[in-house]
Amino acid sequence: MRETIKPHGGTLINRVVLGEQRDEMLKAARSLYHLKINAWAISDLDLIGVGSFSPLTGFMNEADYRSVVESMRLADGAVWSIPITLGVESRDAESICAGQQVALVGEQDGVIYGIIDVQSVYTVDQKNEAVKVFKTDDTAHPGVQKLYSKPSTYIGGPVHVLNRPKPEKFEDYYFDPSETRRLFAEKGWRTVVGFQTRNPVHRAHEYIQKSALEIVDALFLNPLVGQTKSDDISADVRMRSYLVLLENYYPKDRVLLGVFPAAMRYAGPREAIFHAMVRKNYGCTHFIVGRDHAGVGDYYGTYEAQQIFSNFTPEELGITPLFFEHSFFCTKCGNMASSKTCPHGKEDHLHLSGTKVRAMLRGGDCPPPQFTRPEVAEVLIEGMKEADDPA
Ligand code: ADX
Repeated sequence: MRETIKPHGGTLINRVVLGEQRDEMLKAARSLYHLKINAWAISDLDLIGVGSFSPLTGFMNEADYRSVVESMRLADGAVWSIPITLGVESRDAESICAGQQVALVGEQDGVIYGIIDVQSVYTVDQKNEAVKVFKTDDTAHPGVQKLYSKPSTYIGGPVHVLNRPKPEKFEDYYFDPSETRRLFAEKGWRTVVGFQTRNPVHRAHEYIQKSALEIVDALFLNPLVGQTKSDDISADVRMRSYLVLLENYYPKDRVLLGVFPAAMRYAGPREAIFHAMVRKNYGCTHFIVGRDHAGVGDYYGTYEAQQIFSNFTPEELGITPLFFEHSFFCTKCGNMASSKTCPHGKEDHLHLSGTKVRAMLRGGDCPPPQFTRPEVAEVLIEGMKEADDPA
């Protein structure tokens, strides 16, 4: 059994402390300064801990943060496009200084999730971060909104993970990068394409996944299930929809479904690079980037998330991006297609806006099967009913 791709930076980071050392650190943590952290920070901490964010060993210190914001690289030059930071309120910042250890405690449950060895406490210009990372400082942008809701003083440094968040549901689909790497090797998959999604898998998604599957050994369907904006379909409903889809339409021996428990940033092009680096850590050799990857509204050009890859050499990326044109069902061709494969005009293409699809589902109507598989539509309709009538 041999892994076919190295993690980003060469080594899979492991900051999860176990056994006696964990007992000792937990004991020591009780007398450290306790910093309350929210679900987003807990998810980042855990993803750093298990190596999903390799080569990061902690929340970014000032040097890495500034380098990432300005030039999409860590201070040592490695490609990294999204700041992974820990914001602290001013009353906390006053009590924390470089060289100190701080316990990271869940704000909801009081669990000590980890310890950070503070390397730097620094105040940032969030407007600059917004403009560089999201290409806008418009507060209507969900990523910018989130950024501005965070304090502007950050602390950075290596972390030690002492407790891990427990999945509420679908526990069987949580795999750490070390586990996916082992699974891929055991199955003998030499090439694996990663697919990021925060949506149900509609026919266009299926089409690009299967087009990729024609040229690689396997597909790692890796839906993001961390925080998303409120009008995105819940992870619970989406997971049910992925399961019926895989059951009915995908070859079982060539697909692995596993969740990506990170928060969605909606940073379009920069997030596409980040998504690709993370999937490399999970052991994927290829990564799909379609139209408006990780985009929202019309902040990004349709193919900007593909173009951004040309800033880096194939060697420094490591993972191979697979770019796909906007795909659709063409009634004249009688199949899924894109402008690369279909000669017909827009009038022959089936286009449904997200708003239209949501309205149909809410009304209990299945979108056409050329747009969404009926089994998937049924799950989504059920999910809409549950959301409208949670009792
Ligand atoms: S994302 O925010 O996670 O990127 P989404 O789940 O909609 O959103 O997309 C998952 C992947 O499929 C992304 O790479 C996106 O670019 C691609 N994609 C979505 N719809 C289409 C489409 N109609 N044609 C081509 N690619 C698409």
